[in-house]
Amino acid sequence: MKKVLVLDFGGQYNLLVARRIRECGVYCEIKPYHISMEKVRDFAPDAMVFTGGPATVFAPNAPMVDPAIFHMGVPVLGICYGLQLMMHLMGGRCCAAETREYGKTELTHTGDSPLFDGIEKTAIYWMSHGVEVESIAPGFRVIATTAGCAHAAVECAEQKLYGVQFHPEVMHTVHGREILQNFLYKICGFKPEWSMADYMEKAVAECRAKIGSGKVLLALSGGVDSAVAAALLQKAVGNQLTCIFVDHGLLRKNEGDDVERVMRDQFHVNMKRINAQERFLSRLAGVTDPERKRKIIGEEFIRVFEEEGRKIGKVDFLAQGTIYPDVVESGFGGESVVIKSHHNVGGLPDCVDFKEIVEPLRRLFKDEVRQLGLELGLPESLVWRQPFPGPGLAIRVIGEVTEEKLAILREADAIFREEMALAGLDRSVNQYFAVLTNLRSVGVMGDERTYDYTLALRAVETQDFMTATWSRLPYDLLDKVSNRIVGEVKHINRICYDVTSKPPATVEWE
Ligand code: XMP
Repeated sequence: MKKVLVLDFGGQYNLLVARRIRECGVYCEIKPYHISMEKVRDFAPDAMVFTGGPATVFAPNAPMVDPAIFHMGVPVLGICYGLQLMMHLMGGRCCAAETREYGKTELTHTGDSPLFDGIEKTAIYWMSHGVEVESIAPGFRVIATTAGCAHAAVECAEQKLYGVQFHPEVMHTVHGREILQNFLYKICGFKPEWSMADYMEKAVAECRAKIGSGKVLLALSGGVDSAVAAALLQKAVGNQLTCIFVDHGLLRKNEGDDVERVMRDQFHVNMKRINAQERFLSRLAGVTDPERKRKIIGEEFIRVFEEEGRKIGKVDFLAQGTIYPDVVESGFGGESVVIKSHHNVGGLPDCVDFKEIVEPLRRLFKDEVRQLGLELGLPESLVWRQPFPGPGLAIRVIGEVTEEKLAILREADAIFREEMALAGLDRSVNQYFAVLTNLRSVGVMGDERTYDYTLALRAVETQDFMTATWSRLPYDLLDKVSNRIVGEVKHINRICYDVTSKPPATVEWE
């Protein structure tokens, strides 16, 4: 399979560059800019893309590459810093721009470069730079300009070297996708052939080769990543895989049973479900501080896992559902630098006796993990599961967690989720759930006065969960959910909708 090497110069959009290339049906991997030429040759890229980055190319200690990289006969597309670096190292000059270009900018191309093939002459592109190319390197020519930037795109067609000052990966660049497609298909000769079905076969073969006849252990959390990893490993090595699923009793309605049904009955995974609800609840008794709750749950989780691990004995591999953004954001490191923890358990692998880690999803983005899950035959309900915190409902029951409060919250939350799905909003709204507040207030039901809990509904839209806006759910939907919950769930007599964004609020209430 032909592949692209994305060299990362620290730009904020580096993951996006890789994502967009894969969206073109072309496989790529991101590596830090400082990898050795030997590693570049070992990777054997069919094309390279250099990302943007915050550095100034002519400053001391600016990120550099071996200039030999431009003479490997491999096409290169340099984006922003990538363009400046290409010019700087190949005999051109860069300088501080007189005016910093930032934001949507009109750009005009010359009409005779394959990079802009089929694209209207003038359109909006996304710019973000304070350095510009003052003079281009010998052998290059200018193929696009903006009012403030005389060298907005350059090419050396003979060596298939291209550089753009704008960001094709950003949505605001109207023809960004076509620019990348032109580079990949027309200039480099790629075809859109990276498909999840092929990838699945390849990943299965790789897992088989790595694991051989070894034993593998995986902690199932009920989340998407661990479920997909389990399904993939099961396909690869069958019952050499053992999954441990610790049910801490803090999952949503039917969640534990659903995971068990899918994994055991449909995928025939050798799965041990540990029903540890009582242990967790008794340790949480009387605890109201959110961080203390998290800590207790984390510790107890390790303890349960440790006990089970001891029963299983030595395993050859510990499997993890680490995904690509985890790997990239951790600064790449070696294999397995990131230990993905369930329930925020930092030290899970310490308590298991294993030789090596396997991470079958470490090259996939979240939406690719979902696609792989579907390809493997996992049900949509599991593949499209919304994010759910490790400490589960314990941080959605405000104050002390009791069996009674959990039962109330589970029913109310299930109604909210059911109605969101009926309204067709269950995928577009990124996270939505119910919170059982610790507040009681007076109500009236029939002829009787009640004194019961207030339930809060929360729904947010977000890209990365670092910031989020509250979702403008239709009033009719809120009305229906409210009526149903108050009518169907005992001990709730009042419903509030949370209309705060993050910041200043967080997504969760605790
Ligand atoms: P906050 O509340 O921090 O949530 O705005 C952002 C995202 O993180 C999830 N979250 C957690 N996930 N353990 C987890 O595994 C936790 O302790 C935890 N706290 C919050 C939250 O559900 C949201 O998706």
